[in-house]
Amino acid sequence: MRILITGATGLVGQEIVRLCHDSGMDVNYLTTSKNKIKTGKENYQGFYWNPDTKEIDSSCFEGVTTIIHLAGATIGKRWTTSYKKRIESSRVETTNLLISTLQQQKHQVRQVIAASAIGIYPSSSQNYYTEESTERDSTFLSDVVQKWEKAVEGFKTLGVRLGILRIGLVLSHEGGALPQMAKPIEKGVGAVIGKGTQWQSWIHLKDVARMFLFVHEKKLEGVYNAVASNPISNKKLTYAIASQLGKKILLPNVPEFVLRFLLGEMYVLLVSSQRVSNAKIEKNGFQFYYENIYQALEEIDAHKKN
Ligand SMILES: NC(=O)c1ccc[n+]([C@@H]2O[C@H](COP(=O)([O-])OP(=O)(O)OC[C@H]3O[C@@H](n4cnc5c(N)ncnc54)[C@H](OP(=O)(O)O)[C@@H]3O)[C@@H](O)[C@H]2O)c1
Repeated sequence: MRILITGATGLVGQEIVRLCHDSGMDVNYLTTSKNKIKTGKENYQGFYWNPDTKEIDSSCFEGVTTIIHLAGATIGKRWTTSYKKRIESSRVETTNLLISTLQQQKHQVRQVIAASAIGIYPSSSQNYYTEESTERDSTFLSDVVQKWEKAVEGFKTLGVRLGILRIGLVLSHEGGALPQMAKPIEKGVGAVIGKGTQWQSWIHLKDVARMFLFVHEKKLEGVYNAVASNPISNKKLTYAIASQLGKKILLPNVPEFVLRFLLGEMYVLLVSSQRVSNAKIEKNGFQFYYENIYQALEEIDAHKKN
């Protein structure tokens, strides 16, 4: 079996590639960097694409029955007007390019599993979001995710099974938010962000990668929240990281206006609050390895030390 992965070179992608190889699946991947194309491995073949110029090596679809679509420019860089366009286009235009290319050629693709984000749900301290929640707001992030999911729905025109995973805060020592949160704490200058009451719906890297392959294996369709069972407040998360590192939080909370001054509009990433349910994927039989934040951080820390 051969799977095509976009964004395979990123944090979540690399873990999915590892799992695919562990279970004997071959991987084709599309990359925007020619220097990330490795040759000589039958089970890991890279193909170039440039969604800006609509260039794509369409031989990437050969023998492929499933696509896992993760590509997207990081949201962790300063949101200038031009970078905001990149955040959106790297998700919407990559999706459109995959769909239009498949519409124009013979292929064997039967299933697509696409990444999305819990940022689609409005910030709220009270709501508990399920996949059925229809509340949206007009913040930049929610707007991008709505456009992204709308583009992804276009895969249905190909008659394929479509699964969408709305991913929460992915925890890993290899990248993403956790190393950034841990750095000041390690140096003894960690602090709770804003009021600290904002909900953080996190997920361990291994679980999010396993969830993509679970949706593949069980041939699931529709939207699934990809978060662990126990979202926690920013304050609890900050203290949990400090406890794992054997450090103390000594400084007062960082006020929101300071964050806005330092980070610009992107400060919302740190203060927005989404408490998200994973009941739907659990009802379908998915079992999380990491349900509890202390257990997740302990595994991540142990892995880092190895
Ligand atoms: N990590 C999280 O906490 C989190 C939370 C919610 C949602 N998500 C979503 O899940 C997906 C995977 O996340 P991740 O953490 O693995 O991201 P990542 O580490 O930033 O990797 C994303 C990949 O997308 C590709 N990419 C970057 N810019 C691109 C562009 N302009 N056009 C086309 N491709 C581009 C890159 O692959 P090449 O360099 O090989 O082209 C990169 O390896 C992303 O779409 C992200 O938004 C992640």
